[in-house]
Amino acid sequence: MTHFGKSQSHTLMLSIRPEKPEDYEAISRVHRSAFGQENEARLVEELRKSKEFLPELSLVAVMEGEIVGHILFSPVIIQCRDRNVHALALAPMAVLPEFQRRGMGSQLVEKGLECCRRFKHQIVIVVGHPDYYPRFGFSSARAKGLEVPFPVPDEALMVLELTPGALDTISGMVLYPVAFNDV
Ligand SMILES: CC(C)(COP(=O)(O)OP(=O)(O)OC[C@H]1O[C@@H](n2cnc3c(N)ncnc32)[C@H](O)[C@@H]1OP(=O)(O)O)[C@@H](O)C(=O)NCCC(=O)NCCS
Repeated sequence: MTHFGKSQSHTLMLSIRPEKPEDYEAISRVHRSAFGQENEARLVEELRKSKEFLPELSLVAVMEGEIVGHILFSPVIIQCRDRNVHALALAPMAVLPEFQRRGMGSQLVEKGLECCRRFKHQIVIVVGHPDYYPRFGFSSARAKGLEVPFPVPDEALMVLELTPGALDTISGMVLYPVAFNDV
């Protein structure tokens, strides 16, 4: 639980926990509102239907009973020359516009990465704002030998090794779940 100062007499409490079925509608609302379109809300709904979906890595930020943020990590495959390696993609992530820039997104990323480590995942890939994710340890994925089958500027394609050296012997194409094709 994190305390967010609102005034001296009223402190806002943020908690981060795995999603529950009763959160689905609110999660879609957060994405619609933050992205200003349907695509990411629909993506989460589609991913949730797939058998690879990891509910323990779909986390909500809750403030005074209201869902104000969401982060999802989905399984991806890195197609190496001689084998397939499991990794995660961080996407999508959103905080309600009226709650942005108060550190909630950072809390979601940090708590999310902690959960990924707890469940023994080793590699997290993100396509996102190059000014945002390096603060959590993400760095250029192409510099580490990873590629994606869609156009992305170098600086937006980033990776984090949850275990140091996890990418030392790994390079190749990162394959996302098909639901990402429509985003
Ligand atoms: C990205 C997002 C989840 C961050 O949530 P947040 O609660 O505002 O994040 P924090 O308060 O922890 O961090 C704010 C930082 O994010 C940066 N940031 C937020 N949105 C950004 C954007 N669109 N581009 C670049 N940086 C951004 C701010 O510059 C700020 O950095 P600073 O602390 O150096 O000023 C939120 O802005 C959001 O929902 N955006 C719309 C959806 C989106 O773009 N999702 C991410 C897809 S990769």
